[in-house]
Amino acid sequence: MALRTQVGIVGAGPAGLVLAHLLGRDGIESIVVESRSRQYTEDRVRAGVIEQGVAALMAETGLGDRLHREGLVHHGIELRFGGRGHRIDFQDLAKGSVVIYPQNKVVGDLFDARAAAGAQTFFEAEDVSVHDFGGATPETKPKIRFRAGGEAQEIVCDFIAGCDGFHGICRPSVPAEALKVFERIYPFGWLGILAEAPPSSDELIYAYHERGFALLSMRSPQLSRLYIQCAPDEDIRQWPDERIWRELHARLATADGKWKLTEGPIVQKGVTGMRSFVVEPMQFGRMFLAGDAAHIVPPTGAKGLNLAVTDVRVLARGLAEFYASGRQDLLNDYSKICLRRIWKVQRFSWWMTSMLHLFDTDNAFDQRRQLAELDYVTSSRAASQTLAENYVGLPMEWD
Ligand code: FAD
Ligand code: PHB
Repeated sequence: MALRTQVGIVGAGPAGLVLAHLLGRDGIESIVVESRSRQYTEDRVRAGVIEQGVAALMAETGLGDRLHREGLVHHGIELRFGGRGHRIDFQDLAKGSVVIYPQNKVVGDLFDARAAAGAQTFFEAEDVSVHDFGGATPETKPKIRFRAGGEAQEIVCDFIAGCDGFHGICRPSVPAEALKVFERIYPFGWLGILAEAPPSSDELIYAYHERGFALLSMRSPQLSRLYIQCAPDEDIRQWPDERIWRELHARLATADGKWKLTEGPIVQKGVTGMRSFVVEPMQFGRMFLAGDAAHIVPPTGAKGLNLAVTDVRVLARGLAEFYASGRQDLLNDYSKICLRRIWKVQRFSWWMTSMLHLFDTDNAFDQRRQLAELDYVTSSRAASQTLAENYVGLPMEWD
């Protein structure tokens, strides 16, 4: 027997779970289908920086308790180059801040809220596929099919939300000729570690260095998150812990030698490739794509999770309008509203990435140009303000 719901959601990452949460608050039913286990999705180490608008949305919708208790509010970041640090003061420049709160805690909070609301989630779903979302006839309802616990399942719904990330099945299920892809792949990746060491700075440090980019971030007062620029296909086995620390010390060092990087046991490490990617439009018939399923940004601007949440905020409003009044104005404009903001965030993420990394195609001229740009960004109020207002989060378009 087929299950019925209003919105069938593929993927239990931040996009799918926030969408389900917002819909639930408007009395709209959803079922979430996820290919991994709950444990796996909760343990995945990913984003760490939450824009102020996204943090406010979480608090307004009942997800603020642990965020307020454990989140670290940051009022600035440091850009480090030429052996010196330069602070970008978000409070002064953009009257704003960000919250350091790990993605896995965001996901955990959403699972708890979902369980408390008695809403249905299928984990470890296999062979997930989407059907009849093209809207050929109004009577044909979209369907999600999969296997769970060895049994074939079908969900019949009014709409499908494709929140299954970059490697999911929703985007490839749309006829290729209906979508236009915009993409740039960068000739480098990030090697990231999680270390049981108190962060060596109160704020994040983005470092430009002749050996390559480095980033000091954190997860809590006891846990540091650090990254170094590496080859996109870097073999992690070539990076014993001592080599990682040596590279971090070199790239983050200050000229006066006073700043110290605290080491600690490395509890997780991995390599991530970097790309910019957008698909247009983000809707096909009665299926909507949201989050990484529709776009990817390089992590230098700390925007992926935030974009996923802002997409589904627009989608939830459109669906609420539809169920309340039958009107589809917002739903029809979903893609247009989201893309306007997405492209600005793409531009910012590309710009931060271009300014701070070494490109193998660059020469000495390009490196002087990058240093001049960093000098300008940290010495002109107008330029620092541009960075600050993008970093803390651009306004939601329709507000
Ligand atoms: P995902 O989190 O990818 O969720 C998609 C879900 O769909 C997954 O749970 C997946 O298992 C599931 N799925 C996939 N295929 C199927 C299928 N066929 N059927 C059912 N389910 C399926 N962003 C920030 O904002 N700030 C940061 O500081 C930041 N740092 C990052 C650091 C790293 C190292 C990485 C890798 C990413 C970072 N990001 C950051 C990006 C951020 O993690 C992503 O943009 C975010 O997870 C997107 O959420 P999503 O829900 O769209 O996709
Ligand atoms: C992180 O803490 O994982 C992080 C922080 C800032 C970024 C990217 C990742 O720009």
